[in-house]
Amino acid sequence: MNISNPISTGMGRYIPSAFYIQSFCISTALVLFMLAVPPFAEAQEKSLYERLGGYDGISAVVDDFAAKLFTDEVVGPRFFGMSDDSREGFRQKNKNLVCRATGGPCKVISRPAAVTHGGLGIKASEFDVVANHLIDTLNKFNVPEKEHEELLAIIGTLRPDIVEVEGE
Ligand code: HEM
Repeated sequence: MNISNPISTGMGRYIPSAFYIQSFCISTALVLFMLAVPPFAEAQEKSLYERLGGYDGISAVVDDFAAKLFTDEVVGPRFFGMSDDSREGFRQKNKNLVCRATGGPCKVISRPAAVTHGGLGIKASEFDVVANHLIDTLNKFNVPEKEHEELLAIIGTLRPDIVEVEGE
């Protein structure tokens, strides 16, 4: 008997063989499983680093953001007297910091925020100006709201190390 064919009853009707029934059940179970479980790549959310466009995306965001800081009438004076090379170093340090903090493969090359900002007497209002420039830049690059919030939450963790004058 050929088990891959239904069994003929000889009366024009076919009774599926045990093999057919078994195959049908396995195929149906497989299809249901594939529909129920999303592909592995989709199931795991991409890192914030990837969702921001990887290193190139972050680099473009930091360049735009730094240009806003250097020319801002409130916080710009904080950066007076920096050479082009120092400004480039500032941008690079921020790129590496954001890259690393969002799950990217970069090394942090800056010193701790408390060390580099300690003694500058940075006011809460100045921190807000800087944070708002970051929001403007993220909007300019059409970064979705979810990624805004995640990045700002990360930057927010540095606030206690940066702000020395609250309420001003
Ligand atoms: C919002 C979060 C901030 C982040 C992530 C950040 C990040 C950085 C980084 C990575 C550096 C370079 C540190 C190093 O040289 O090792 C730096 C330096 C500096 N930051 Fe910030 N900063 C923030 C807020 C601020 C604010 C609010 C101000 C003042 C308005 C400020 C003013 C400065 C100044 C003046 C320097 C030193 C520049 C130099 O002479 O090299 N930062 N910051």
